[in-house]
Amino acid sequence: APDDLSFATLPHAAPVSPERRAELLVDPGFGRVFTDHMVTIRYVEGRGWHDARVEARAPISLDPAAAVLHYAQEIFEGLKAYRTADGGAALFRPEANALRFRRSAERLAMPPLPDAVFVESVKQLVSADRDWIPSSEGGSLYLRPFMIASEVFLGVKPSSEYLYLVIASAVGAYFKGGSETVTVWVSRDQTRAAPGGTGAAKCGGNYAASLRAQAAAVEHGCAQVVFLDAIERRWVEELGGMNIFFVFDDGSMVTPPLSDTILSGITRDSILTLAKADGLTVAERPYSIDDWKADAASGRLREVFACGTAAVITPVGTVRSADGEFSVSDNVAGPVTKRLRSALVDIQRGNAPDPHGWVT
Ligand code: COI
Repeated sequence: APDDLSFATLPHAAPVSPERRAELLVDPGFGRVFTDHMVTIRYVEGRGWHDARVEARAPISLDPAAAVLHYAQEIFEGLKAYRTADGGAALFRPEANALRFRRSAERLAMPPLPDAVFVESVKQLVSADRDWIPSSEGGSLYLRPFMIASEVFLGVKPSSEYLYLVIASAVGAYFKGGSETVTVWVSRDQTRAAPGGTGAAKCGGNYAASLRAQAAAVEHGCAQVVFLDAIERRWVEELGGMNIFFVFDDGSMVTPPLSDTILSGITRDSILTLAKADGLTVAERPYSIDDWKADAASGRLREVFACGTAAVITPVGTVRSADGEFSVSDNVAGPVTKRLRSALVDIQRGNAPDPHGWVT
């Protein structure tokens, strides 16, 4: 069925006052301060996508038998809008999120949302809520597009109805302390994804499955969990919600290769491009936890960092697990980590030329 997608814009009758908004934007943290509006678009089998709106952000009503509540047919995205020096708003690679959203939809047996509609929905919300983009250093507007199965039916099958939404949250830096390294916990007993599973899709279920191991990391004084592969329990895959990079003394850099167990991070992809431009030799290849330990001991491994949209680039220092711990580079953010982070953030915020056409 043809999609019918002109956005109706229904301004919020009682948006947050400018004074209250200014207060909320002082130290928003991550994911708790929300804007005035949201986007909703509906899908019904046979009718396609329709009823696109920008409307007041409000609770949604769902039947208790809505499929998403039972079988977790849900996918999401995360991207940021930045305040530019001239007071405008910049989005970073929204087409890449649109593509990944479509791939996630396919894996979860959900209908594809056309890329142009995805990008337009995000632009519409940023325009409606542009006053919510923090102008503070490190601040941005985190956009959360997502899709849920809304058919009222308890049978196990792909839903025939869906609701797509975009909400936005004003955020500061994801980890407090910015350039200090974080300590990570290696999960030996739990894994995040298995071959043939949904690890490459950005679905809520993957994050639910990571929470117990993430809680164990916190119990051991760590900021994030490191997941190993499900078969050999040897290859480093990713953190709870971030990709990982290893930087060596010979100017080479390694990150695990994309597969059906690794989320194809847009920050990961951007860093690969920036690192090549920086003269680093970049390899996407498997790297084991034993390599990590041995290369840390020999001094060959100089820097480790994790990356994602939310936290951008976070240096990793100590690695802790049930059988002890080791550290890389005295727990300070290394020069390559800092350089790549600045290069990326400068492009994102419009403070540097954009040779790759990443900024909208
Ligand atoms: C990100 O790094 O952007 C993530 O995917 C984590 C997010 C789910 C908060």
